[in-house]
Amino acid sequence: MKNLKDLYLNFFESKGHKIIPSASVIPENDPTCLFNTAGMQPLIPYLLGEKHPLGTRLTDVQKCFRLTDLDEVGDKTHHTFFEMLGNWSLGDYFKKESIAWSFEFLTKELNIPIEKLAVTVFRGNDLVDADNESAEYWMEQGIPKERIAFLGEEDNWWGVATGGPCGSDTEIFYWRSEEEAPIVFDPEDKRWVEIWNNVFMQYNKTAEDKYESLEQKNVDTGMGVERTTAILENVDDNYKTSIWKDIIGKIEDISNKSYENENDARCMRIIADHIRAVVIITADDANIVPSNTDQGYILRRLIRRMIRYAKKLEIDINSDFDIELAKMIFKKYSKYYPEIDRNKDRIIEVLTLEKNKFSRTLEKGIKEFQKITEILKKQNINTINGKTVFRLYDTFGFPPEMTGEFAGEIGMDIDMEGFKKHFNEHQEKSRAGATEKFKGGLSDHSESNIKYHTATHLLHQALKDVLGNDVNQKGSNINSERLRFDFSYPSKLTDEQKQKVESIVNQKISEALDVTVEEMTVEEAKQKGAVGLFTNKYGDIVKVYSIGDYSKEICGGPHVKNTSELGIFKIKKEEAVGAGVRRIKAVLEI
Ligand code: SER
Repeated sequence: MKNLKDLYLNFFESKGHKIIPSASVIPENDPTCLFNTAGMQPLIPYLLGEKHPLGTRLTDVQKCFRLTDLDEVGDKTHHTFFEMLGNWSLGDYFKKESIAWSFEFLTKELNIPIEKLAVTVFRGNDLVDADNESAEYWMEQGIPKERIAFLGEEDNWWGVATGGPCGSDTEIFYWRSEEEAPIVFDPEDKRWVEIWNNVFMQYNKTAEDKYESLEQKNVDTGMGVERTTAILENVDDNYKTSIWKDIIGKIEDISNKSYENENDARCMRIIADHIRAVVIITADDANIVPSNTDQGYILRRLIRRMIRYAKKLEIDINSDFDIELAKMIFKKYSKYYPEIDRNKDRIIEVLTLEKNKFSRTLEKGIKEFQKITEILKKQNINTINGKTVFRLYDTFGFPPEMTGEFAGEIGMDIDMEGFKKHFNEHQEKSRAGATEKFKGGLSDHSESNIKYHTATHLLHQALKDVLGNDVNQKGSNINSERLRFDFSYPSKLTDEQKQKVESIVNQKISEALDVTVEEMTVEEAKQKGAVGLFTNKYGDIVKVYSIGDYSKEICGGPHVKNTSELGIFKIKKEEAVGAGVRRIKAVLEI
């Protein structure tokens, strides 16, 4: 059988939908959310009325990530990263077509017998009436009345908790059991598994918790690839599907253990899930690298947790087991997510670097953990205090969640609040240090600052020339004395590389290149190969600064008029500021 993703996308394409690529797994311009958790998230502006360049019918498979599931990964059905298929109507079709097509896809394309299907629809509330209309459409398709349940907001209303487009939905359930499906649908019976959710979006929930009617009526549907594949392949364990089979098989080979043993199977599922999530996050053009904050911290936790479970399976963690698995993921997913191919080398480097870093301390950390917990046990203390959890984090790189897991395995727990207190104290201390250091770094528009700003653009491009296109800006700080530029790159620069970068920048300065600015849409900027922060909004106008033909960057400015104004460029320092992030300090000597 063709795979579910292709069947789905082709089907909706045949119904006039345009297939759009998955958006980044990191939401753009939404600092409240670390990862996209649903297919509709990147489409919010269009659901709210902005015009999408590809029209009003869209379909895609979106990279999603649910952090809430991280600690549950290990059972048969949870994943951190997962894929969500979806089709959208942006003010185009509504309930009738949506229901008819869902029914057609399930029964004709996937060949699911109608006897195995049931649906829920919205019971109604103060805002909207009961959704008899959807129930009618389902019956038109042949779903019997007894298989339609009317439920309340907890079940049949969908929106992101923080607000945005929302509405009632109809959910489709599949009977997952050898027994014959009961005539009457009981949504409480766990053998009915939800496979598809069609949301009929008519409202926008504002920050003040008010519901405004949307000008356009939208459809947003979502189908989880992993769960539906398990159903189609008739297994009750997602990791036994064609998605995972070869990966689990490989882990069995590497570890010389069997998936039939439930304890080992749990470790294998964690390794399989985490390596896929690591590849997907690292492949993203958002250039996430392991760190101690935000997405970088999740990435770090995933890599470290994967290593710890590999160790549990007695895999030699210093072997290339992780790279071998990562390569299998590359093969499977690059067709849908071309960024994987583009960023292959970086993924391997990031993985190797983080593993090396952690594997050095893991053994010692485990010994330390055992020593501490033995002492505590003798004293009948069952909670590891915050200071100790912080020490394990700070000295041995144990994420507190991991220490929590270790503790759980021997019937203990950790004082997370205490950990946070120590962590914050530590942060404040280092922040105070940082403020002292950069007191002079007021960002003004003095002549000297402007020069450093232009030099930063040259440096950015020169780094790409020397180290490869994967190098991207991670941060920049300029004052009148120097520039400081953080960028993604997995290892220390050699002297030759530094010299090369320096001489390219100086070469460009001596070429006396004109610096020009143009305004254009983000799309145009992208097409012209400008680097910089892209928002996903078509039609947004941005400034693009060009330095001769050499550099093109989205930026607010200001800049010098000609590079001849800059003086001589010198790199003063090159150092690491986190895993996979390097920092260059440089000056202009007049
Ligand atoms: N947004 C809905 C969901 O995530 C349908 O796509 O279930």
